[in-house]
Amino acid sequence: MGVLLKSILKGLDPLKGSVRAVLPQVALGPIERNWKSLQARRIAQEPDRVYLRDVILPEMSKTGARRILFVGVRAYTADVLIKMDQMGFEIWTTDIDPEAAQFVPKSLPRGRHVLADITAPPPPALPDRFDFILMNGVFGYGVNAPAQCALAFGHMVGMLRAGGLLLVGWNPERCPNLTALALDAGLRACDFPDHPGHMSFRESTHVFDLYARAKSA
Ligand SMILES: C[S@@+](CC[C@H](N)C(=O)[O-])C[C@H]1O[C@@H](n2cnc3c(N)ncnc32)[C@H](O)[C@@H]1O
Repeated sequence: MGVLLKSILKGLDPLKGSVRAVLPQVALGPIERNWKSLQARRIAQEPDRVYLRDVILPEMSKTGARRILFVGVRAYTADVLIKMDQMGFEIWTTDIDPEAAQFVPKSLPRGRHVLADITAPPPPALPDRFDFILMNGVFGYGVNAPAQCALAFGHMVGMLRAGGLLLVGWNPERCPNLTALALDAGLRACDFPDHPGHMSFRESTHVFDLYARAKSA
């Protein structure tokens, strides 16, 4: 997508304010759908997301992880979920928002999306143990206060098998000190087999951090 088109899509919402008022009602639905799908395509092309899909997923598969919990589902997470499914991971998804279920790609096995709040004890519909939890863009976008973040870490540690891995994607300026909270919860920073566990991006403030559940946590 060209730079010009990207900035237009980022800065201009045709469905806001006066533009919405002058559009015929019947046109709003299709325009809204197309607009949202363009936005999802733009977000899915952000460098940290492309990196997640093209570099981190192959690293994840080298860890031997099979059962994955993916926290926070939106339209722009579809390509990552589809690729994980094609790579043979058993993917479970969860989100606090009942509307999020519609964003689970139809090609994924049914019955593995569970409505849940990651800061609360996991509901019985989720398996007891995961090899890997991927929580990108949820800290700072819903799970914000230090006490909430601590609860989320505690519940995720509880869902990980001993030695299981947690990858957190976050923006430090939007969050409390997640590194300290992760350590307090019984996690330790670690690396992928062939890649550092901490990743940052020149183009944005987004970072990824990989943690392992301590055997005794
Ligand atoms: C900015 S989006 C990030 C989506 C996605 N994980 C990604 O890779 O970008 C934040 C998502 O987290 C979900 N969310 C916010 N608070 C949550 C909570 N307490 N438990 C589970 N999901 C939550 C929102 O509903 C939303 O879908």
